[in-house]
Amino acid sequence: MYTGQFGSKHFSQAFETITKMSKSYDLYSFKGCNFISNVHNVEYLEKLHSFEIRDSDVVAVTYPKSGTVWMQQILSLIHSDGDPATVQSKPASERVPWIELPFLDFQSQPSPRLSVTHLPYHLIPEGLKKKNGKVIYVIRNPKDVIVSLYHFQNYITCLDTPSSFEDFLKQFLEGKVVFSSWFDHIQGWYTHKDEFNILFITYEEMKQDLRTSIQKICDFLGKKLDDKLDTVVKHCTFKNMKLNPMANYENVENKNSSGAFLRKGIIGDWKNHFTVAQSEMFDRIFQERMKDFPLKFIWDRQ
Ligand code: A3P
Repeated sequence: MYTGQFGSKHFSQAFETITKMSKSYDLYSFKGCNFISNVHNVEYLEKLHSFEIRDSDVVAVTYPKSGTVWMQQILSLIHSDGDPATVQSKPASERVPWIELPFLDFQSQPSPRLSVTHLPYHLIPEGLKKKNGKVIYVIRNPKDVIVSLYHFQNYITCLDTPSSFEDFLKQFLEGKVVFSSWFDHIQGWYTHKDEFNILFITYEEMKQDLRTSIQKICDFLGKKLDDKLDTVVKHCTFKNMKLNPMANYENVENKNSSGAFLRKGIIGDWKNHFTVAQSEMFDRIFQERMKDFPLKFIWDRQ
């Protein structure tokens, strides 16, 4: 029996039901966005739109592999004033569930509800657009996202193993991956930013200066940590998260035991994967797709 990636009885049962239903996972499109069959379900995605959103809700939005699990850890610790027991006693997905995963039951969480999502702008609960709740959008260098997702697909059971990096890069650029196009995701959210209480933050700034980044998130959330800030920072480093079974998703159903959810956690791993030609091709497409995008990024700040 697959006991569920997060170890809780509730979660295990939910996952067991899913795996009993079918062992096969495919991407399917729902309203223009790719989801995974037997993980996401259409009925639930239809309902998401009208979920009640509370003023105290906090939602971290990420394109996959941009720092979702990191945000789960950060939000838990900020909320608990840096109490390490919070992140040692309960799996991350239960503390800070994905809104779009029905078996995590985001709606039944006690307030303030902390959550993450990969949803594109157009599928997010409408309530958030009325400036109820707070949204934190995390952006990561798409070249590092590609590398991270490539390794993730080689690791996790519910996504196809890419035949090669070259093929995967092509697939990614065509938006034929889970949650579809990176370009559409960021543009959707950024273009509509004025509809939300929203903070944009990059993976790179978090990596470069975690303390300042967590302070920035606290300021946005209206939370004062004072002398607890350093404890929060300590438990959110890659090294410490990797050692924490309640944060590192070590039991996720996988097809390759040498992989990991928390893989390298660095800036610029793309340089170890892209050829010069692939990098130049990506840059051309990036410039074309992002030419009207108002934010300019400096990714390599290490
Ligand atoms: P790599 O595969 O490049 O290592 P997500 O949680 O959105 O799936 O993103 C996963 C990526 O975030 C992985 O990237 C993972 O290692 C990285 N990550 C998670 N926690 C981190 C941390 N504390 N510091 C730096 N990177 C982290």
